[in-house]
Amino acid sequence: MKIFAIESSCDESAIALLEIEKGKIKILKNIISSQINIHQQYGGIVPEVAARAHCENFFPILKESKINIKNVDYIAVTYGPGLITSLMIGVELAKTLSYVYKKPLIPINHIEAHIYSNWLSHPELFSKKTFPALAVVVSGGHTNIFLMKNYGKYQLIGNTVDDAVGEAYDKVAKILNLGYPGGPIISKKAERYQGLDLSSHLKKGDKDDLNFPRPMMHTKNFDMSFSGLKTAVLYKAQAEKKWTEQKINQYCFSFQNAVVDVLTHKIIKAAQKYKVKNILLGGGVSANQELRNILKIKADQLGIKTYFPELKHTGDNAAMIAITGYFNRANAKKNNFSLMADANLKL
Ligand SMILES: Nc1ncnc2c1ncn2[C@@H]1O[C@H](COP(=O)(O)OP(=O)(O)OP(=O)(O)O)[C@@H](O)[C@H]1O
Ligand SMILES: [Mg+2]
Repeated sequence: MKIFAIESSCDESAIALLEIEKGKIKILKNIISSQINIHQQYGGIVPEVAARAHCENFFPILKESKINIKNVDYIAVTYGPGLITSLMIGVELAKTLSYVYKKPLIPINHIEAHIYSNWLSHPELFSKKTFPALAVVVSGGHTNIFLMKNYGKYQLIGNTVDDAVGEAYDKVAKILNLGYPGGPIISKKAERYQGLDLSSHLKKGDKDDLNFPRPMMHTKNFDMSFSGLKTAVLYKAQAEKKWTEQKINQYCFSFQNAVVDVLTHKIIKAAQKYKVKNILLGGGVSANQELRNILKIKADQLGIKTYFPELKHTGDNAAMIAITGYFNRANAKKNNFSLMADANLKL
């Protein structure tokens, strides 16, 4: 079975072609046309600019891919959540291709796709034994902890009450004048400060840690907050008299320690309460090596397995849309002209 997929929820114009035969996955094409260079000058994504860039990008990457849509079985497309004007470009392109080539169209939830990105590189997950699992999406727009009882069965048990964790990385990078997107830059600087001792902050009271607050870390539920942490970084930075490279690295190290402490604490508490077998991380922030390391150390101690997508599948891509299409192919429809982009789609 071949699934062609389109992703345009934010600032990546992406297409992919996935082949699945007898449970074996082959990613035949996975092309991403990133708009980061365009948005960097604004310090964040400008929705109108993103939509225009999608219009310019899709036909060249389709041509470059040499994918023959005649030979595919399904077309899968992200229809939410995301930026409405960006989503609309992908959805209308998918509807057009589906009509012209008479292929059934599968509507995809982007957040579910971040979860299924794990299935692209871990074949052992294709089993009912995977569940119950904890599916955690940490991205630019979401910080969600789901109890996943089976394929397609999600219960949201933890959410951010304000900023998403990726958003916090991006805003702190802006405060420290580091550029966009903030996640990769901050994590590199944190590592530089930390040296090779990746798990140093597991030792309580690290004297080099600036001890930023860990909001809501010890509340009874699994909700989180990152806005106060960002503000604490802002106030301390405003009072700072002398900036050195080492000082900036220390801010990044301390901010990241707070993020990783809160996230791993909440995830592990939830995993214990719901007695899950596996923890699956997904979304742009799941690229963070420190988060991966600390989560794995804590989960290993409890005999819970951790899964992370390959780095190339952590940010937005269409291969994850295609694999999600595979699991949702029962929703495929021909002539699905009524499919509309939904910016606030929930999982
Ligand atoms: N190594 C990293 N460490 C921490 N954060 C990272 C890292 N790499 C990327 N990020 C963050 O990941 C985010 C982008 O992730 P992603 O593309 O999944 O978000 P999005 O698609 O914009 O949001 P959503 O998936 O919620 O719709 C950015 O906020 C970026 O700073
Ligand atoms: Mg995303």
